[in-house]
Amino acid sequence: MRVYRFDAFGLEHLKMTEEEPPAPGPGQIALDVRALSLNYRDLLVLKGLYNPKLALPATPISDGAGVVSAVGEGVTRVRVGDRVVSHFIADWIDGPFRQAYVGTTLGTPGTGLAAERVVLPAEAVVPIPPGYDFAQAATLPIAALTAWSALVTVGQVQTGQRVLTLGTGGVSIFALQLGKALGTQVILTSSSDDKLSRARQLGADCTVNYRTMPDWEQAVLEFTGGEGADLTVETAGPGTLDKSMKATRAGGTIALLGALTGRQGTVTTGLILMKRLHIAGIMVDSRTAFEAMNQFLAERHLRPVIDQCFEFEHLPEAFRCLDAGHHFGKIVVSV
Ligand SMILES: NC(=O)c1ccc[n+]([C@@H]2O[C@H](COP(=O)([O-])OP(=O)(O)OC[C@H]3O[C@@H](n4cnc5c(N)ncnc54)[C@H](OP(=O)(O)O)[C@@H]3O)[C@@H](O)[C@H]2O)c1
Repeated sequence: MRVYRFDAFGLEHLKMTEEEPPAPGPGQIALDVRALSLNYRDLLVLKGLYNPKLALPATPISDGAGVVSAVGEGVTRVRVGDRVVSHFIADWIDGPFRQAYVGTTLGTPGTGLAAERVVLPAEAVVPIPPGYDFAQAATLPIAALTAWSALVTVGQVQTGQRVLTLGTGGVSIFALQLGKALGTQVILTSSSDDKLSRARQLGADCTVNYRTMPDWEQAVLEFTGGEGADLTVETAGPGTLDKSMKATRAGGTIALLGALTGRQGTVTTGLILMKRLHIAGIMVDSRTAFEAMNQFLAERHLRPVIDQCFEFEHLPEAFRCLDAGHHFGKIVVSV
């Protein structure tokens, strides 16, 4: 079977090789991967910025969908032939998040999915939503579930509330789609007028170009009658957090999930207390939340926005496309 490995950090070290397909042990399944989706995290992993101590060689990518081709001893929750999609935080089935779960994420330190066949814990998959093809399903484990976590699990947004989301990457476009399906008004920022126009076609109620309007938080305040958004989906991190806090209403919530501008920086803590803001750290969500989201997506006939689909042999090119940041929504790879 074909599998990708990198033996040093850097996209140039990502190479396809041929190996014997793995067989599942007790409690595991073999998944014949049909589609992958790329996340910003995968790029950080490849560049050595996510975990510089990662044991190499390694196989990247955490999100994939396919068909169960074998099950190990004791596995009863899935059967050969099932169409399933990976669950990112393998051990987080239900209940509150625990620190130990971080060690069970797919695509490092857990199994990377950039292969024609992978072995996964039987617990780390869910059924593909009805009506979804493999490529659509592959977009869900991180990007969609993180947006769901921000809006539903943590934000508990209500009809008529206002949601602000930053950028037009995978998480943000899912936040836009979910926000509209939940009856909220969605405000979205982007560096591109063309992308803002596409966001309006998807239902965005207010769009702001953060390049041409560096004081974009003022536009959010104007749109919300001076109050600010009820929930802000913070995809960018320390470089935008102060502005996001200004753009969020008093007592509102910031779902802090992204690191597009880095992982540390200066924060005006005075704003947090003077506005009684709730800053909630987000780490995707549980498998139970994943299943609830998939039911919602199916009931509402929501379909992921896929920017481009690459062939498996062009995976490095797909990563370069993600790195360039010209995409709108998700980049997927057909296996
Ligand atoms: N904590 C979690 O559970 C979790 C889960 C998923 C993702 N994340 C993180 O969330 C972030 C977004 O992930 P993603 O997969 O959606 O990324 P992505 O698909 O690569 O999207 C990146 C987009 O963000 C926008 N952007 C870049 N810099 C920005 C800035 N300074 N201000 C506002 N927008 C900016 C750009 O949109 P425009 O081109 O429109 O400007 C860019 O295309 C990443 O840092 C990722 O690691 C965290």
